[in-house]
Amino acid sequence: MAKVREVMDKFGNKHTYNEGMEGVLATTSEICHINGKEGKLIYRGIPIEELAEKSTFEETSYFLLYGELPTRKELDDFDARLKANRALPQEVLSIMKQMPSQSNTMQFLRTVVSLLGLYETKSDEHTVIETSHEAEKLIAVFPTIVAAIQRLREGKEPIAPDNSLGHAANLIYMVNGEKPDEFAARVLDICLILHAEHGFNASTFTSRVVISTLTDVHSAITAAIGSLRGPLHGGANEGVMHLLNEIGSLDKVEEIIKIKLETKAKIMGFGHRVYKVLDPRARILSQYSERLAQITGNETYYAMSKKIEDIMKREVGDRGIYPNVDFFSASVYHYLGFKLESYTPIFAVSRISGWAAHVMEQLRENRLFRPSSVYLGDIDRKYISISER
Ligand code: ACO
Repeated sequence: MAKVREVMDKFGNKHTYNEGMEGVLATTSEICHINGKEGKLIYRGIPIEELAEKSTFEETSYFLLYGELPTRKELDDFDARLKANRALPQEVLSIMKQMPSQSNTMQFLRTVVSLLGLYETKSDEHTVIETSHEAEKLIAVFPTIVAAIQRLREGKEPIAPDNSLGHAANLIYMVNGEKPDEFAARVLDICLILHAEHGFNASTFTSRVVISTLTDVHSAITAAIGSLRGPLHGGANEGVMHLLNEIGSLDKVEEIIKIKLETKAKIMGFGHRVYKVLDPRARILSQYSERLAQITGNETYYAMSKKIEDIMKREVGDRGIYPNVDFFSASVYHYLGFKLESYTPIFAVSRISGWAAHVMEQLRENRLFRPSSVYLGDIDRKYISISER
């Protein structure tokens, strides 16, 4: 239920508004539908489960951007364009090497994407076609940026993309210098499909608000990255890992989660503005977390996650608080060997496709976003000169 507030302003007018714009319809979209009561998610009509089973991130990205599943030729051409745009300009890499490598990885990513905008000579052309070119370039280069940031943090030289590898496999390769096995690459590919799009979430809405001023794509995406970083949004996956590390062992889960609930602390990776049942993406990720736990022989993180899920279901399930996409993605990324500070940037590697699709959709029938608020401030103050204050 939306938290609807009723307020009286100082002019004597009564207003109602939905806190956090819950349930407010901002525009129309054909990209994604979420059924929060039944836990169903479709991208352009296709259930997420089917895409996770049959598609690839590259194909799903094309589908999100252009609205149709690509033919073999369209997909091959799209893939070739992505590969051609994977590398970072040398100037950008040089600047990255001078940036504070220990800074927050999402701030780092945001800054590099903003920087890349300086190299886009056509960045003030607002045709959908020109926007799609820039969008493809960003989808292509995000893994390279994220991997380079991780390596610079570790005092290592960034690794150039390997065009013999798919999008997901190449990201793993650029992070640790080793080509991943087929299963690890496929699991990351599925993670990227699952995180690619999710309707009018905070970061996507941000990108649409920004592009609605007819500014450049890089400004819209930079703002979206800033929004995704927050712990109430994409940053929650790192919060989940902090929680698992804080708990430390299976036998402490019950005690620590109960204390947190009693003190009204939020459990990261749980709850959602739209889903009031299990997030369908969490169901899929839970299965991969379990399989990776078995393969790696390190079951603790999965076992702790599962126990937290059971306790939360028992304690707050009746309030519609269930695992969201961030909950099991934390242990999956851990098992895939990613460092904690890469988790939210990996989310961005995927979500760039959704952001780009929304930016293009917004531009097709643009109207500036400009909502209003209820003014509750003073209405009859006197100006007091500075000498008398
Ligand atoms: N743990 C414990 N209690 C929770 C949680 C949680 N994770 N989430 C919601 N609640 C409780 C709140 O305390 C609140 O209780 P109250 O009514 O007694 O005050 C009630 O449920 C409603 O919570 P709100 O924060 O008002 O719900 P909202 O729709 O605004 O928030 C949100 C959704 C931000 C996702 C929230 O559930 C949350 O903070 N979760 C933890 C962070 C997280 O996992 N974010 C990732 C979301 S998915 C994504 O962005 C990719």
